[in-house]
Amino acid sequence: MANHSHFPDWTALVLGVSILVAWFFYNQNRKKPYANIPVLSSDRNEYLQDGRGLLERGKKFKSCFQVQTGTNFKIVVPNRFATELKNHQSLSFNDAHARDSFTSYPGLQPFREILENDTFIQEVVRKKLTGSLGLITTALVEETQLTYHDMFGESKEWQTRVIKSDIQDIIARLSSRVFLGHDLCRNRDWLDITKNYTLTSFQAISELRAHHSLVRPVMHWFSKNCTQARHYYKRAQALIKPVVDRRKAQIQTNSSGGEGSYKTSDAIGWMVECARGRNIDYAAAQLSFSLAAIHLSSETMTMCMLQLCDTPELIEPLREDCNRALDAKGWTKQALQDMKLLDSFMRECQRMRDLLATSMLRFVKAQVVLSDGTVIPKGSTLMVVNDWAHSSEHFPNADTFDMSRFVKLRERTGEENQHLFSTPSADQMGFGFGEHACPGRFFASNEIKIALCILLLEYDFEYVPGDDPPQDIKSEIVRLSDPGARMRIRKREGTS
Ligand code: HEM
Repeated sequence: MANHSHFPDWTALVLGVSILVAWFFYNQNRKKPYANIPVLSSDRNEYLQDGRGLLERGKKFKSCFQVQTGTNFKIVVPNRFATELKNHQSLSFNDAHARDSFTSYPGLQPFREILENDTFIQEVVRKKLTGSLGLITTALVEETQLTYHDMFGESKEWQTRVIKSDIQDIIARLSSRVFLGHDLCRNRDWLDITKNYTLTSFQAISELRAHHSLVRPVMHWFSKNCTQARHYYKRAQALIKPVVDRRKAQIQTNSSGGEGSYKTSDAIGWMVECARGRNIDYAAAQLSFSLAAIHLSSETMTMCMLQLCDTPELIEPLREDCNRALDAKGWTKQALQDMKLLDSFMRECQRMRDLLATSMLRFVKAQVVLSDGTVIPKGSTLMVVNDWAHSSEHFPNADTFDMSRFVKLRERTGEENQHLFSTPSADQMGFGFGEHACPGRFFASNEIKIALCILLLEYDFEYVPGDDPPQDIKSEIVRLSDPGARMRIRKREGTS
């Protein structure tokens, strides 16, 4: 009897406690807008589905406004404040990205490696990769030629290809050549892992952002993208560990393997040298290179290719620019610098077909007061709009694609070394701006130039006649190129 009478009480108690716990967590996770900054939208779906459209509507505000995003309210800061915020010590790049990238979930360790392991990846890129650009040019040229040979063959007949997928393969192989050396860059297993980890992990993160924070800790175990990210990460560990062990042993036995010898090495060697006793997850670190290098570089090169298919009259002047530089300097870093029209073309593509409508995502560690008096509270997250790139006040005839726009600007006295594809500026924040501007931009610039230049010189390409024009995909503040866009391509007459 007694037992029966207690049973419903226990059920009610458990239910009551569960509801209280759920309510507590719901409120913990309920994101509230910040005081004194106008709210443009509290509906996370509006941002998830059309963040770019939302930012356009935000132009009605004179200064900052806030929007509910998939993870929290974010303060949107007008472009004119980019310069005063670019090196602000109260802002954190890592904290903001870690919050938006769920770095504690298994399978997403490579994001943690970039964001939480001090400045390890940044150091490897800045000191070692950028320092080696002169020496890796030949390797990149050789690998590009081999990749095109394997991918497109030597036939002078048209063949149809899917642009974006091919470019992802090209960039995966070129980046792997530099990050892992000869052998692994042609290893099919590694190429599969590096390309697909990048694609699935970004998809996993945007899927997680699209779900409520209460659901994420459970759903990540079942989501197809998260499961695949874990799977590729495990495969990367199995492949990378023996290579790293061999390299560590080599470095130990080779007494000349200290500072100075890196220039003949690859990223595994650079990482071992930069580790200096730190506990590094090398597979995660290698995949973090892939994340940084493959996703945005292949998107950038894809948009250049789409632009060339849209405006084929640009192809011939670009071929002349490449030929002129190569005739004078051969395949050298200097020749790449001399391809000024190609550089300007790439910067104009990045200006007009921007991947990200905002830049400088930062967590606010201590209250920041902007020059117009706006108070950005401690604990908030901000991002800066990148809309000067489309404004005629900053770029005359901003709606017109002008391939030589930046060459002409470089002709002005004192500006010869400005307006490069790799130069971040307040009106062109495709590589971010300030202290955290992308450290891989010099490598990305050279890699994309080499890949484009060889394609221009050795192949004819155009959209497949009769295909519909490609449609960009827009989600949150990101614009990605159409994954289905096709081109037809053939080896040019007169090339061997
Ligand atoms: C065209 C290709 C690329 C684009 C458009 C791009 C863009 C960006 C952007 C927008 C940021 C954030 C900057 C900020 O918030 O101020 C960034 C950061 C970063 N990028 Fe890139 N990136 C590219 C290629 C690469 C490559 C090839 C690497 C490595 C080899 C790389 C490594 C990094 C790293 C390590 C960071 C974090 C910087 C930090 O923590 O201070 N990126 N990149």
